Amino acid sequence: MAITREWDGASYDRISGPMEAMGLEVLERLDLQGDECVMDAGCGSGRITAALRDRLPHGRVIAVDGSADMLTQARARVGDDPRVRIVHADLATLDLGGDRCDAILSTATFHWIPDHPALLRCLHASLRPGGRMAAQCGGVGNIERVHHAAAVVAQEPPFARHLDGWTGPWNFRDPAGMRDDLLAAGFDRAECRLVPRPVVPEVPAEWFRTIVLGAHLAQLPPGLRDLFVNAVVARMPAPVTVDYVRLDIDAVA
Ligand SMILES: C[S@@+](CC[C@H](N)C(=O)[O-])C[C@H]1O[C@@H](n2cnc3c(N)ncnc32)[C@H](O)[C@@H]1O
Repeated sequence: MAITREWDGASYDRISGPMEAMGLEVLERLDLQGDECVMDAGCGSGRITAALRDRLPHGRVIAVDGSADMLTQARARVGDDPRVRIVHADLATLDLGGDRCDAILSTATFHWIPDHPALLRCLHASLRPGGRMAAQCGGVGNIERVHHAAAVVAQEPPFARHLDGWTGPWNFRDPAGMRDDLLAAGFDRAECRLVPRPVVPEVPAEWFRTIVLGAHLAQLPPGLRDLFVNAVVARMPAPVTVDYVRLDIDAVA
């Protein structure tokens, strides 16, 4: 599975209120009747999945994620609901075995996936003709200030020998390039736009460790991880602001 990092599902679930707020706005764009089958692509710990399920009293949810730890949290949130099918899979190779969705919702996920043409082909194949997709992910310029601070710290000892030359997994796209990829993958219509969405986390070190620096930390031995997080936080002006720039995507298959 081409999964670029592991996640701490319990920590993510605890701190991801700001991500949930952004995700609920994406859910609003789907205009559901209540009887559809909707995929949550990259469902994480299931906060948005639960809200989606509640919008579908006569429908069902297919919740897909590549992280076993996130899915443990998602299962705890949605319980044993037969209307929610949980799938542990890489979205870039996803095959629902003939199950077709009426719509796809995805929040804060696509930028973690390096191969967007493969991802979008799999998502298109999972939708019925005319099915809709509402998504939001990191776009070009996303968390530039955090990544700059991390790049400076990464050049210093004792981190440099583990991070020197490492460029990370992120795929922060511009609207025109993403739209071209959506149409090439078979989508009939697609609109993409960039929106600045800065977040001031309550506990910056936990936000950095669990969310934005998780891929950096996977390159480091465990004994250096907290040192790295604290050094990056210390380089950021107070109050620490994570300069999110989101790419909103609306597409029809
Ligand atoms: C920041 S979390 C977002 C979770 C949730 N959608 C939200 O908005 O809170 C990103 C999620 O994408 C998942 N993910 C990243 N790459 C993936 C891939 N190739 N296939 C499936 N899931 C992936 C991660 O496991 C993680 O749960």
